[in-house]
Amino acid sequence: MSVLAAPSLRSSLRSLLAPRRTGRVTRLVGLRVEVEGIEAAVSDAVEIRRRDGSLLAAEVVAVQGDRLACMPLGELTGVRYGDSVESLGHPLPVRVGQELLGRVLDGLGNPIDDGPALHMLETVPVDGDPPHPLRREMVDRPLSLGVRAIDTTVPCGKGQRLGIFAGSGVGKSSLLSMIARGTDAQVCVLALIGERGREVSEFIQRDLGASGLARSVVVVATSDQPALVRIRASFTATRIAEWFRDQGMDVVLMMDSLTRFAMAQREVGLSAGEPPATRGYPPSVFSLLPRLLERAGAAERGSITGLYTVLVEGDDMNEPIADAARSILDGHMVLSRRLATSGHFPSIEVLESISRVESVVTSREQRMLVRELRRLMAAYRDARDLVEIGAYSAGANPLVDRAIALREGIDSFLRQDIAEVSPLDASWAHLAALLSEGAEPVVERVPGSAARHVAPSPSGSTLGGHASDALEGVVA
Ligand SMILES: Nc1ncnc2c1ncn2[C@@H]1O[C@H](COP(=O)(O)OP(=O)(O)OP(=O)(O)O)[C@@H](O)[C@H]1O
Ligand SMILES: [Mg+2]
Repeated sequence: MSVLAAPSLRSSLRSLLAPRRTGRVTRLVGLRVEVEGIEAAVSDAVEIRRRDGSLLAAEVVAVQGDRLACMPLGELTGVRYGDSVESLGHPLPVRVGQELLGRVLDGLGNPIDDGPALHMLETVPVDGDPPHPLRREMVDRPLSLGVRAIDTTVPCGKGQRLGIFAGSGVGKSSLLSMIARGTDAQVCVLALIGERGREVSEFIQRDLGASGLARSVVVVATSDQPALVRIRASFTATRIAEWFRDQGMDVVLMMDSLTRFAMAQREVGLSAGEPPATRGYPPSVFSLLPRLLERAGAAERGSITGLYTVLVEGDDMNEPIADAARSILDGHMVLSRRLATSGHFPSIEVLESISRVESVVTSREQRMLVRELRRLMAAYRDARDLVEIGAYSAGANPLVDRAIALREGIDSFLRQDIAEVSPLDASWAHLAALLSEGAEPVVERVPGSAARHVAPSPSGSTLGGHASDALEGVVA
């Protein structure tokens, strides 16, 4: 076969020999640049050449007849009517590889830290394929995140997608950094979308620290970056996570925040001429959210577990982005201001948080323990007003009595210092020991035989032992 017969070589030669068409900037309105004279598809990248020779990358966001509506991936300063524009014929690619570990990148994937130049990277299209719905692996293998309250009460599976619903300043960033340092996954990819610039360096230096950064890739698009760069950062981070997954690794992809990603798409959609629909969000926001979130998941080898923060101001869990995210994700945890202001961190509201894969990533004994914990917490919550004004008389309700007795222990189990890592087995053993404290001897029903008494395990340090047997009786 002649060398020229190779299809890839033929197509490269064809593109080299083809005359490159150049378009012109015909209109600039707000963030929208209109271009005439070239053809391109939505999402294709174009390059605008300013009069001083500098290039500005932009992306096609709408095609209207022979006019392209583009949005910039940088500052529009200096772009004028008549500037020449060339189409790249495809979306901007992403560079991926092992070398990215420990690095901080901008939304387009270029390093912004002081590290060495990256040489060994592979160039790939930004749009990876989500796992095929019929070939997706089940989410049935537990993944420890290193945070007791999550690992036991909202247990996470490899390939799961969890929402973290929270207002501002309640400890989202601190929690993500705890997970980056404490999880059993081999790699963490963190996408910081729309944060203030000051917060980013604080997060990387103070919260994440050297140990967290070493096993992470951080992709940053601050609030002052163009909307397209903020959107792009979310896809860049997802594509990097996919590359590590394809090497057979378990990856935790954390995005802070999904709401700011949606807000960026709102800017783009409105600039492209879409109508505002739900509370100012144009329809494209709601089609882009699943396109981003569906890319996490478990593959045959490796997995991407996605944790996405969603901003809920004033506890409005029904605002459109929170609502859309909840319907796509496989579980959510709520961080509350009530707990954060009382110094209880991580501020997870256990009774409002659920994991849809709990039943497949935990054992029956473990689920018994959590059910018991939730029952005690709910009993205390319902009786709290009476207890606090001294109107509750001990002995009125055995469950409330036990909830009061164990309250301190439950609180300290759920609290965790930002620097502490809690291994999965230790977390379950801690919970079993806690709930075996002061447990009354209970009647265990053994099918087909007479009821027999069992005493709770004094140590409570294992789950296979008496503690769980006893609890089964308590919870039944
Ligand atoms: N585990 C913890 N232990 C002790 N303090 C904590 C813990 N987690 C969070 N905090 C406290 O809560 C404060 C706010 O946390 P953080 O910056 O993580 O919140 P946030 O929700 O990311 O805020 P923002 O909405 O501004 O991004 C921190 O300054 C820290 O003092
Ligand atoms: Mg934060």
